[in-house]
Amino acid sequence: MSKIRLGVNIDHVATVRNARGEIYPSPLRASILAQNSGADSVTIHLREDRRHINELDLQQIKSKLKIPLNLEIAATSEMLNIAMKNKPDFVCIVPEKRQEITTEGGLNLRYKRNFLKKIINKLKKKNLRVSLFIEPSLKDIKDSKYLNADCIEIHTGRICNLINKNKNYNYELKRIKKAVYLGNKLGLEVHAGHGLTYKSANILSRISGIKEFNIGHFLIGESIFVGLSKAIKKFRKIIRK
Ligand code: PXP
Repeated sequence: MSKIRLGVNIDHVATVRNARGEIYPSPLRASILAQNSGADSVTIHLREDRRHINELDLQQIKSKLKIPLNLEIAATSEMLNIAMKNKPDFVCIVPEKRQEITTEGGLNLRYKRNFLKKIINKLKKKNLRVSLFIEPSLKDIKDSKYLNADCIEIHTGRICNLINKNKNYNYELKRIKKAVYLGNKLGLEVHAGHGLTYKSANILSRISGIKEFNIGHFLIGESIFVGLSKAIKKFRKIIRK
């Protein structure tokens, strides 16, 4: 049985809440439900524009959640300070562009390299597990090791897109397999996420060496039809076969 952990990203519960400027649906309630339904961790992305999760959500979830909280942040001083203050269990550093609908690609590890290294070391000194959201590129994996990250999270957006459109995804799958292999070889814990559905999670869970999936948008969408708990249990079953 593969022991892939499931991180449930509940950002889009906040998206629905914010669409009406209301206090419901509650991301805290969703986090606790995720925990009680078998999620191994809860992920939230505090964006610089606060389009979904806000700092109050972060504080409330951190104070009530018993499973690890994974906070996604951009590599900025503001976000570093927030992470240092709130001490989530895990931090995943992601690229962020104001205009994008979602996180469109992996980090550029050559840009502000020293700053990135500084952030990673500061977070690690606080005993926070640090992961870098990157493309399945061998260069980025070597750079992640150099930067002293604990984990890498491979951006699965491209392969998920191909799978959704019933296009040939073999080349992309090979790229990901090579990336997972190198990540493990270098002693990095390898995660994967972005755009995952039941189908793509099933395909990617057959790659040995992936330790964690982070899944949000599809899962929250699916909850409309079957409920959050059932959708989480179904993903768990798929990735732990
Ligand atoms: N992992 C990371 C690092 C992300 O930034 C996101 C999107 O916020 C996800 C996973 C989840 O992607 P999705 O919402 O498409 O499942």
